[in-house]
Amino acid sequence: MRPQAWVSVPPILIGIDQGIGSPGSVACVILQGTWDRAWETAHIAPGLSADMLQSMSPEQIAHLIRARRTHKRFSGAAVSPEHLSWLVELLRWAPNHRVTQPWRAYVLDQPATHALGKWIADHRDVVLRHSDKPEKDRAKIEKLLSYYFPSLGAIIQVTQVRAPSEHQDREDYAAVSAGVQNMLLGAESLGLGHFWSTAATLCNPAVLQHLGIDPERERMVASLWLGGVVAQPPVPPRQDPDHYTTWISPSL
Ligand SMILES: Cc1cc2nc3c(=O)[nH]c(=O)nc-3n(C[C@H](O)[C@H](O)[C@H](O)COP(=O)(O)O)c2cc1C
Repeated sequence: MRPQAWVSVPPILIGIDQGIGSPGSVACVILQGTWDRAWETAHIAPGLSADMLQSMSPEQIAHLIRARRTHKRFSGAAVSPEHLSWLVELLRWAPNHRVTQPWRAYVLDQPATHALGKWIADHRDVVLRHSDKPEKDRAKIEKLLSYYFPSLGAIIQVTQVRAPSEHQDREDYAAVSAGVQNMLLGAESLGLGHFWSTAATLCNPAVLQHLGIDPERERMVASLWLGGVVAQPPVPPRQDPDHYTTWISPSL
């Protein structure tokens, strides 16, 4: 849980977590403050303590947001149960209208991830029976089983509890998406590779039912794939803010 080495580089601390990837390959930049204090903040006293707030500059937060990247290769290292619990805890701090807390998380550590891979391999036909594009999905299953599953360190299936009205359902989906982003930023800060996937196989009703998820009651928002970093992915280009921003004139 606790990074094994801390190097103090004011105004940030760099923690090297040797539990993931090859030794020293994962350097996670933690906004200033110790791991213990962050853990305490999350579990005992939600809300930032005064010294933590002072030590987090807006640019450090912006840096974390900009540095987050989708990883499509993983090293094969496991993700620890402590890190998985820490990430799941971040879900609940997303904004959610009327505090509906519509998220659910199904955590598969590495042994459970490998067991799911085996189950899918043994039940290809059951999974494909629920597919509207069986030929395409058969190829996707093969890639998932041969390429991704052996290298993943964990999976967290994040769902939204369906709401009684269309309006609330849309708002709750947005809330869970915000929660997933919390988890992605958390994973980035831990130096973990992460991938928000909506891969058809992991959203397949047969797979969901196997995991104890009722597809009538909950819908998939993210199959969050986690693992050790192999390489920093390229940065997909972003439009300039001017492209999507309209400043409203007060004289409107
Ligand atoms: C709702 C959602 C679903 C996604 N599903 C997939 C997916 O199934 N396959 C995939 O390759 N990438 C998927 N992505 C990741 C995007 O491809 C990725 O975010 C995009 O390329 C931008 O890269 P970045 O995340 O590194 O900024 C998904 C992202 C979101 C938000």
